[in-house]
Amino acid sequence: MLDMCPHRHAPLSLGKLVGDSVQCGYHGITFDCTGKCVRIPGESRILEVDARDDGRIDAAAAAQVDHAASSGRGSENGRHAAAYVAGSIGIAGLAVGVVTGLMTMQAANTYKDHCVSGQCDSDGLDAASTGRTLQVVSPIGFVVGAIGIGTGAWLWFTAPSPTSARAFVAPAVAPGTAGVSLRGAF
Ligand code: FES
Repeated sequence: MLDMCPHRHAPLSLGKLVGDSVQCGYHGITFDCTGKCVRIPGESRILEVDARDDGRIDAAAAAQVDHAASSGRGSENGRHAAAYVAGSIGIAGLAVGVVTGLMTMQAANTYKDHCVSGQCDSDGLDAASTGRTLQVVSPIGFVVGAIGIGTGAWLWFTAPSPTSARAFVAPAVAPGTAGVSLRGAF
């Protein structure tokens, strides 16, 4: 197996081990221990690229992998954005739950102060009415908060893991020329 990803020629030794496989650190293509491609981020199909032979794939296959890799990053970014939205809704719901909970306690105290033996003055009646409304709103706020934060955490932690950004030197071989090229992972 070559120490060179057939996609954009990143050294596979700079990738990471995932079980018995190695994941390229550039776009995240994973190869098994024989050098056969077993996974491409954001791509359900397995393309016929592998790190077993001369380390080259044709331009069309490379473009397909570029597209698949960028789709994978798009999916990761989309899930992170959705996690932010869900988390924000959850935090807002939690805030509503806490504030309305405190207001419910305040209304209960007002009710106690202004109602004696079931007889209430106007402040006591207002507090009773407000308290009944808040008693419904507060739990709803807590439920929305829990669901939003839970969903946000799930979206965040189940998003596809990004491949690390790095620069590397890769061999550049073409008919009649040979050298090295500096490449960056973006
Ligand atoms: S260079 Fe290895 S996945 Fe693109």
